[in-house]
Amino acid sequence: MTRRWILVTGCSTGIGRHLVGALRRRGWGVVATARRPETLADLPPGEDLRVLALDVCDAASIAAAVEACRDLRLIGFVNNAGYGQIGPLELLTEDELRRQFETNVIGLHAVTRAFLPLIRKNAARGEGRVVQVSSMLGRLSIPLAGAYNASKHAVIALAESLRLEIGDEIPVLLVEPGAIRSEFRETLTKAWGDLPERAKGTPFEAVLRRYMEKRKELSEAHAYDAGQCAERIARAISAARPPRRLTIGKDAFWAGKAKAILPAFLWERLLRRAYGLR
Ligand SMILES: NC(=O)c1ccc[n+]([C@@H]2O[C@H](COP(=O)([O-])OP(=O)(O)OC[C@H]3O[C@@H](n4cnc5c(N)ncnc54)[C@H](OP(=O)(O)O)[C@@H]3O)[C@@H](O)[C@H]2O)c1
Repeated sequence: MTRRWILVTGCSTGIGRHLVGALRRRGWGVVATARRPETLADLPPGEDLRVLALDVCDAASIAAAVEACRDLRLIGFVNNAGYGQIGPLELLTEDELRRQFETNVIGLHAVTRAFLPLIRKNAARGEGRVVQVSSMLGRLSIPLAGAYNASKHAVIALAESLRLEIGDEIPVLLVEPGAIRSEFRETLTKAWGDLPERAKGTPFEAVLRRYMEKRKELSEAHAYDAGQCAERIARAISAARPPRRLTIGKDAFWAGKAKAILPAFLWERLLRRAYGLR
């Protein structure tokens, strides 16, 4: 039988990078993509790998990637590319919010729309795979990450609507990880630009300073390994009947439960305390 192919966005590092190997080990052909394809040069070559440039914020790059997949039996894609914009909402600029949505939401939607016709053409009923990577922060919100929380809530809403629209024909799988050890935290500090300057003299100055230390400390203590996370996603994708929703990590599981059962005032008090906001 011809090989089944799946495309993954954001494979330069982290979950996406591990997913390439995890899917290939399960027999998938993988189209590994990154906005800087040179970052994929060290992937072990093989007939089951195609490497492409793909910036989810660039329509021409998405269109070129679709064309470059036409000769494959591409039956799915994983919208993994994303980053976290940090900053208290009072200090967050409209441009920062726009950029966050441009990558995490509009980019994901653009890839989805561009590749669905190809998937529909290549996949038998129930065989296709649309995988949208959201986050535990798509179900609950933490302080100082409002832009990211909002973008991941939007990903969940889009995936749930898409599933209602096409789910009978093409399974749509939502991935909701808790904290994962990857380059994500390095990127957080890059994306906040001159935020520490902007925070000077505001009530958030000290809070922000502690914030990254705290996230780093929590991540080192509790974060789930990106390789294991990718294995879980690859297993779910490869299942005959993929789950609708894949929650990854104890933090994601328990935070969801705690939010559902605790009175709001207590939940908020816990979060404020955890992030140094009094
Ligand atoms: N790490 C966590 O704690 C965590 C938790 C829940 C959900 N997630 C989600 O999991 C996904 C993967 O994150 P990760 O932890 O593996 O972080 P990561 O190591 O920072 O990987 C993010 C990937 O997204 C790519 N990317 C960013 N903007 C892009 C664009 N415009 N076009 C194409 N690729 C782009 C990055 O490429 P460059 O190298 O070019 O920047 C990188 O390959 C993200 O959607 C993230 O929100 C992460």
